[in-house]
Amino acid sequence: MNKKDIIDGPGQCLCKHGLTRRGFLTTVGVGAVSAIVASGKISAAEENVPEATAEKVMVEKMVAVNLLVNDQHHRMLIEPRWSLLHVLREHLELTGTKVGCERGECGACTVLIDDVPRYACLTLAVEAEGKKITTIEGLMQGEDPGPVQQAFIKEDAMQCGYCTPGQIMSIEGLLRANSQPSTEEIRMAVSGNICRCGTYAHIVKAASRAASLKQS
Ligand code: FES
Ligand code: FES
Repeated sequence: MNKKDIIDGPGQCLCKHGLTRRGFLTTVGVGAVSAIVASGKISAAEENVPEATAEKVMVEKMVAVNLLVNDQHHRMLIEPRWSLLHVLREHLELTGTKVGCERGECGACTVLIDDVPRYACLTLAVEAEGKKITTIEGLMQGEDPGPVQQAFIKEDAMQCGYCTPGQIMSIEGLLRANSQPSTEEIRMAVSGNICRCGTYAHIVKAASRAASLKQS
């Protein structure tokens, strides 16, 4: 992909928003570029440059990626340091994936990458290019919840619900690899997902129910 082709909106998905360069600048305001300079995100040596130059510097620091999320392609300009979690939530508006520790400890940010559960907070968005990314939104079957989501509802496997999307994605990943997991295998699969409400017994039951639902 040519960076020039998608230069219209850093962090914006052009497939979704269809923004032009002028549209982007109108949306965020030229002042936002100045704000980035002012906030030190552009090095001191680059301060006091004309706004058009500052914008160019910002764009030059970005890379073009094509992310496949929930079967939809998103052509984007992103910063190489952005995590997949950041891009999903802040730029693709897929807020079902939750922010917890942001250091690989809680599992709230779990998504599937090529059907394998991964922490989106520890995955750079650029690493995920060319791979199939699935978020909790991608498990929906139209307007209806998918089998694992249904099983969580039936088994009352949530209290505050903050960990739930991550738990569901870990179980979805397990069931894609192993359609009839044992209780021990279920426990292992969600061992990287912390639930501060302590709903673990219900989560294991939900995973068993989801396995049956998927086979029915
Ligand atoms: S937010 Fe990613 S593991 Fe906690
Ligand atoms: S249901 Fe509250 S953190 Fe798990």
